[in-house]
Amino acid sequence: MLGGHLLHGGDYNPEQWLDCPEVLEEDIRLMKEAGVNCVTLGVFSWAVLEPEEGIYDFGWLEEIIDNLARADIQVILATPSGAMPHWLTQKYPEVMQVRADGQRNLPGKRHNFCYTSPVMREKITALDEALSERFGRKDNVILWHLSNELAGNFSDGACHCDLCQRAFREWLKEKYGTLEELNHAWWGRFWSHVYTDWEQIHSPAPHGETTVTGLELDWRRFVTDQISDFCGMERRAVAKYSELPVTTNFMDTFKNIDYNRLQKELDIISWDNYPCWHKEKDEVPVAVRASFSHSMMRTMKKKPFLLMESAPSVVNWRNNNPVKRPGMHMLSSMQAVAHGSDSVQYFQWRKGRGSYEKFHGAVLDHKNGSDTRTFREVSEVGKRLPRLDQMLDRTVNCPKAAILFDWTNWWAVEDITGPRLDLDYPACVLAHYRVFWEKGIEADIVDMDADLSSYQLVSAPLNYMYKKGWDKKIRKFVESGGVFVTTYFSGMADETDLCFTGHHPLEEVLGIIQEEIDAPSKEFENLFVYAGKEYTAQRMCEINRAKEGTEVLSVYERDFYAGCPVVTRNQFGKGEAYYLAAESDLAFLRAFYGDVFERTGLKNALDTELPYGVTVTERTCADQAPADGDAETKKHKGVVFVMNFKNDPVCVECAGEWTDAETGEVCRDRIEMKAFGSRVFVS
Ligand code: GLA
Ligand code: ZN
Repeated sequence: MLGGHLLHGGDYNPEQWLDCPEVLEEDIRLMKEAGVNCVTLGVFSWAVLEPEEGIYDFGWLEEIIDNLARADIQVILATPSGAMPHWLTQKYPEVMQVRADGQRNLPGKRHNFCYTSPVMREKITALDEALSERFGRKDNVILWHLSNELAGNFSDGACHCDLCQRAFREWLKEKYGTLEELNHAWWGRFWSHVYTDWEQIHSPAPHGETTVTGLELDWRRFVTDQISDFCGMERRAVAKYSELPVTTNFMDTFKNIDYNRLQKELDIISWDNYPCWHKEKDEVPVAVRASFSHSMMRTMKKKPFLLMESAPSVVNWRNNNPVKRPGMHMLSSMQAVAHGSDSVQYFQWRKGRGSYEKFHGAVLDHKNGSDTRTFREVSEVGKRLPRLDQMLDRTVNCPKAAILFDWTNWWAVEDITGPRLDLDYPACVLAHYRVFWEKGIEADIVDMDADLSSYQLVSAPLNYMYKKGWDKKIRKFVESGGVFVTTYFSGMADETDLCFTGHHPLEEVLGIIQEEIDAPSKEFENLFVYAGKEYTAQRMCEINRAKEGTEVLSVYERDFYAGCPVVTRNQFGKGEAYYLAAESDLAFLRAFYGDVFERTGLKNALDTELPYGVTVTERTCADQAPADGDAETKKHKGVVFVMNFKNDPVCVECAGEWTDAETGEVCRDRIEMKAFGSRVFVS
């Protein structure tokens, strides 16, 4: 476990308070009171660390790090590339991004530097190396935090300057070798878009090319690679004098950058979680999304991740910003840990007095200091986490199910001018994941490059694009006993977005033949009966034929495609593949996955039916997790989290005895949960 315990703390910006020594003293005293054991320093400190070009001022930072050390508080040290000082942008305008419309940004804001610019790279490398030399071996510094929310510039995350255009063309040359290959991949003869000179290639732009989907995809891949390259460069810079691991803070399903690529530059995954709690009284959809993102972060390295930022109470950037209602802070913090986080960190420790984020929640408020509900609720988390340290050490969740969420597929699906223009890939995947969450069946969130061998069930909703090798991987997975679920509009295009011709790449495995895709309007919605109940087929209805031997579990009831299969199951090798030909609703997904889980033998950690709003996860000892997922062997090594996202008490009926790891209470056949309660059991 990094730092030797679960981390509790967050972003600390003492550079905003350097002229108030009493504030800095109070900070440390109150950190101890709140049970803070780790803070993140330096995220936006460039202007103070290097007030003039080449002149470093690190004394203030050293003093703060040393004061923290005396108080036994660890430090995550950031490199400050997230925001640029004005002397830099004034002297070297090339460091500022050029937008897709060709306009260069003016100075200001953050997350908006050019990832290619040699000047930017040189300046930040020099500063990072100096930071590494000075702080990289300090006892209480435990991790490098590279930059901040990379690609988070509120538009496409990219820079379209001439340097980036040139780098893009080089990237394409490397990928395709010849223009002939590129023109083929991008289907260049369509609308006469054949490139005859590499110099003709330009990034997608509102006043230029937006219709060549192959170009769009390659541009997004290039941007991801360029940002990852920048991140790798910062990694090497801090490694010059330091052996500490590195991270950067991700945002959840963030479209600008493929985190599964960027993560390769990192040792530890961390992310910033800002769910919109209390948007409605039903917290489940928001909880589902947060669990999904936590699980995705864990899956990237199949290791514990860090919750790097979360709001102690409000954020300031939504239209209306509700406070976290009593109990929600503890619950949402525990939710992260339950899914594999080894930390609960906040943005931020103390509210600044001015500028853009002065009303963003913090542990310490402008007025009343620590005498606030927020501070008390944060302190409760600070008391609770140390009780879990030991039992969670070297544990992580090891699900037997996985759901596909792949960035390239996302980009492709939402670029399509096809059956519908309003396809929402994350929403579709979340609709499926929600059923797993409700039933307490944990899932890893994988991309198409993942190793599937540890899973019994893989679900791939709206899997439009098949990257090279994906069909073979699934074929092998099913052949050797895995259960695969996929849906309408799957297996349509290869990774350059060229449509497959002839057959669906997995036709044999799925046992269906796709013929047409209807995107009916409301009045033409269809119906189907599954396990005795009627459901609507809406928005996307594939008109398919079942191959001989495929079991048809449900057919369309109406219209000219009445009788065509909606739900099928095909035995292939030792496994089975399900195909859902139409989009339906949550009620159907609940019924469908209920059957799949039962048939596959997937159970939640309590082996029970959970009441609405409650979910369960389990962290098992990474070293001892049984390869075959045998529930019996696992039983004594797990830490089970039960969480109630309803603001009412609820009782979970479950057979057997469950010992509350914190109170020692033995629960027999039922677990009582408080409103927004979370409990931890050792099994
Ligand atoms: C992001 C940033 C932080 C802060 C928070 C506010 O996560 O990394 O610097 O701006 O948002 O919610
Ligand atoms: Zn650029």
